[in-house]
Amino acid sequence: MTSTPDARPPLDPSRLPATVEIVEEIGSTNAGLAERARAGAPAGTTLTTEWQTAGRGRLDRGWTVPERAALTFSTILRPDLAPADWPWLPLFAGYVVHEALVSTVPGVVLKWPNDVLVEPDGKKLCGILVERVDSPIGPGAVVGIGINADQTEEELPIARATSVRLATGASVDRTALLAELLATFEREGHLLDDIDELRRRYEERCITVGMEVRVELPADRQLLGTAVGIDPSGRLLVRSGADTVAVGAGDVVHVRPAAS
Ligand code: BTN
Repeated sequence: MTSTPDARPPLDPSRLPATVEIVEEIGSTNAGLAERARAGAPAGTTLTTEWQTAGRGRLDRGWTVPERAALTFSTILRPDLAPADWPWLPLFAGYVVHEALVSTVPGVVLKWPNDVLVEPDGKKLCGILVERVDSPIGPGAVVGIGINADQTEEELPIARATSVRLATGASVDRTALLAELLATFEREGHLLDDIDELRRRYEERCITVGMEVRVELPADRQLLGTAVGIDPSGRLLVRSGADTVAVGAGDVVHVRPAAS
């Protein structure tokens, strides 16, 4: 390892696009960037921080990280999407993060809808929160990404989390990681003009497809079955007995690979 948690360097603006703003400390990069998006900030505008102190997670959960250890940022997308295709944005963001990490982080996988985990333990590496905002120049999406980057085991908030540092055994250059992620958003952005192709590629990458799953549904209901694909709206198709159910929301637990 080349740096210790005590000697972590700050993010280096000279190695990042001019569209990236770095602030020393902020409650939530999503909240901060949503204000700029509402005022009409263009696609690609990105906000990151050395320390996010009140990060927002899905389902009203929080997202807690120590100073300078994690990569927390938000970026604006303004895709030309039909309203019915907006649910693809969180899946697209997960696909992009997985693409950006797959060649450098051993065991990284994409679980439906956008969990980026590390096998064999399935520990969480990244959280994604996409929020839609309206603005005078049309709707936009604030895509918030939190990657456990340089955290040690003691610095992670839960046992079922891991970091790039732990997965690779090396300290993490957060600036290089952010630059790679933003370049991957740029490179893969064309998929938002071709949702069929995005669906095909996402389905190929997503390890949930082919698994026996348990879906925790609202009102304490459960669905047990085999995940067989992703439908044109980004929902997970689960075959259960004679039925195939399209699941749009709900926590999915991978039970085991489906018997072949
Ligand atoms: C989840 O619950 O899995 C999603 C967590 C999303 C956290 C990121 S960190 C950067 C951005 N700013 C926020 O306040 N939240 C997102």
